[in-house]
Amino acid sequence: MATMGSLIGLVNRIQQACTVLGDYGGGGGGGGSLWDSLPSVAVVGGQSSGKSSVLESIVGRDFLPRGSGIVTRMPLVLQLHKTEGGTEYAEFLHLPRKRFTDFAAVRQEISDHTDRITGKSKAISNKPIQLSIYSPHVVNLTLIDLPGLTKVAVEGQPESIVQDIENMVRSYVDKPNSIILAISPANQDIATSDAIKLAKEVDPSGDRTFGVVTKLDLMDKGTNAVDVLEGRSYRLQHPWVGVVNRSQADINKSVDMLAARRKEQEYFQTSPDYGHLAHKMGAEYLAKLLSEHLEAVIKAKIPSIISMINKTVDEIEAELDRLGRPIGGDAGAQLYTILDMCRAFDRVFKEHLDGGRPGG
Ligand code: GDP
Ligand code: NA
Ligand code: MG
Repeated sequence: MATMGSLIGLVNRIQQACTVLGDYGGGGGGGGSLWDSLPSVAVVGGQSSGKSSVLESIVGRDFLPRGSGIVTRMPLVLQLHKTEGGTEYAEFLHLPRKRFTDFAAVRQEISDHTDRITGKSKAISNKPIQLSIYSPHVVNLTLIDLPGLTKVAVEGQPESIVQDIENMVRSYVDKPNSIILAISPANQDIATSDAIKLAKEVDPSGDRTFGVVTKLDLMDKGTNAVDVLEGRSYRLQHPWVGVVNRSQADINKSVDMLAARRKEQEYFQTSPDYGHLAHKMGAEYLAKLLSEHLEAVIKAKIPSIISMINKTVDEIEAELDRLGRPIGGDAGAQLYTILDMCRAFDRVFKEHLDGGRPGG
């Protein structure tokens, strides 16, 4: 059951319940649902802008499928849980009793599950895959990896895929509770970045957008991204963060993620352009910044989350009444379990609201 540990952990559990709830919780789409009331961080950007690399760098592990074309065809809800120690492991919501300690197997399962759900047709699906990673090396954070914005369908993919992807990405970033992690490569003009174009539309004040600039190491000699990173090129309410991910050559050589993080730090510390910003750059700093922000946003939204939980409980109770209790079989058992879970969340949230006093 839910622990008092962190608010982010609690919201993770509700998010999982929503996916199981389907129609009631609205997991993976549908307006005005409990799912929509939960704050989360959605990662957006053009294809090859470095989204997967940033996610892996935040986790400190490589576990995402790669390749050319549209690899991410379903949203991936990535829930990071900081543990006190012990081994790192991953778990999928759709495989509840299986612990993955081999991250290459995690990559394989994401890819297999995508094929199972969307068929080999390379179509896309709005229903998310949920993956939890438990590790002493992560911060508490929930990130949603979305398909990259693209302009052309590749061979074997339906023409509609370009618009379908844009609609899916929009359905996530449109929500006022969504925090947008907008990824733009430094070797392209920021004004033409797909991520910034979309963020500008759905969040014109820049209130809920975090700008990330990747590929700083790939800029032409004699140019730099200082104007972008210092917010002069495009102003956001939050600070811009620059990162240097593993290059394709690094990936081919299987350069270790932790070695890559050290190299990234070194890059900033020794850079004549970015030295003065070094303490506010890099994936590790970005993870901390996002975790703190997400926690603060959740705290501010507790009242509205509680009211959505109550609404969901009412709906489930009405459904149970309609079906006539007691209900046998899996469906009934699942509804009762979820009902209990919602009530428990409601209690714990209220405790947080009361200043974290134990009890209930
Ligand atoms: P995605 O399509 O947005 O998920 O992009 P990926 O993370 O798969 O990155 C696309 C390509 O760009 C890969 O070959 C990465 O190695 C490379 N890449 C991403 N970020 C950086 C970076 O900061 N520096 C360098 N040199 N290469 C990067
Ligand atoms: Na982009
Ligand atoms: Mg990717």
